[in-house]
Amino acid sequence: MPKIARTHKNNIKLFNLDQSSNLGQLKFMTSAEPLKQSEIEPRIIYWAKTLEPYLKATLKADGNRLLEAMRYAVLGGGKRIRPFLVLETAQLIIGQEPLEDTLAYKAACAIEMVHCYSLIHDDLPAMDNDDMRRGLPTLHKAYDEATAILAGDALLTLAFEILTDCTPEAGLQLMLIKELAQASGVQGMVAGQMLDLAAEGRFEANKTSKSLNQADVIHLQNLKTGALIKCAVRMGAIIGGATPEQSKALDVYADNLGLAFQIADDLIDHEGDADTAGKATAKDADKGKVTFVSLFGAKGARQKLEITVQDAVESLDIFEDRATYMANLARHMIVRKS
Ligand code: IPE
Ligand code: IPE
Ligand code: MG
Ligand code: MG
Ligand code: MG
Repeated sequence: MPKIARTHKNNIKLFNLDQSSNLGQLKFMTSAEPLKQSEIEPRIIYWAKTLEPYLKATLKADGNRLLEAMRYAVLGGGKRIRPFLVLETAQLIIGQEPLEDTLAYKAACAIEMVHCYSLIHDDLPAMDNDDMRRGLPTLHKAYDEATAILAGDALLTLAFEILTDCTPEAGLQLMLIKELAQASGVQGMVAGQMLDLAAEGRFEANKTSKSLNQADVIHLQNLKTGALIKCAVRMGAIIGGATPEQSKALDVYADNLGLAFQIADDLIDHEGDADTAGKATAKDADKGKVTFVSLFGAKGARQKLEITVQDAVESLDIFEDRATYMANLARHMIVRKS
């Protein structure tokens, strides 16, 4: 039976933006040793807080139903992991803190808008049919299906509009637009969503779940979740001006982080608490979703998660101790509950 989240009165508890942005002392560890939630949370909150004014400025309220719906979906919580990756990667390459790069914040807004659109559509009755998201009713529940479809469409296009206005350098602009377009569409997230639904067997005449092997599931998850995560890292690398060697290492990090992120999401669905997750859990199995958990059980999925996190952490070796936040974000996948 699906476990339904109660509505959070006030955003998701773990990522309350009113908390202090004190970054605290971060440990540097060379292994995939799991991390306590509190060790990366301040940094996640820090980036989410610095991004928020940019998101709000892009989505100014004006009583327009479409814009209100877009604001509901974007400003209503979320961990802002993709913006974290754009900003943290740019910061890593540029070196000096704080990051004073409007371009990086605009790119972070753009990718968060694509992500929020993907969540709105993912929750629609025709897709995963979910009622709760980020501790609140999903957009089609709070508004209606047509508004939700159109708000998603408008966020997708707005993301690209933001990128056309993010830097006067046309070449740089085009590189970012191409990265986001490729990661979002038929070579990326949308293709993955199609595979995810196909794996349920819903497009087959006999409606039985297709049998997928490990390589198929990795391919599916790389597309539906990994593509945008990798895109976030690549955008940060482009903005920061990463060397080919740095870019190569960051690509390996992003591939592993993307896979770890989705395995963690699948584990949260399998064994997580709906209130903490801010969305219903225990739904994937009922829907016939094919995941690492469905293939190998929770234990097997967790083993794969740990190996993948280890690979992500090791890929950052060339940065020595300068990539601690990024390494800790990867470690956080082992313990995250939302
Ligand atoms: C959920 O993404 C959808 C997946 C790709 C697994 P997040 O877990 O990043 O959701 P928010 O943005 O924090 O709500
Ligand atoms: C969603 O994956 C991936 C995208 C939105 C692209 P899920 O369907 O597993 O995400 P949740 O569990 O609904 O957040
Ligand atoms: Mg889905
Ligand atoms: Mg879903
Ligand atoms: Mg899920």
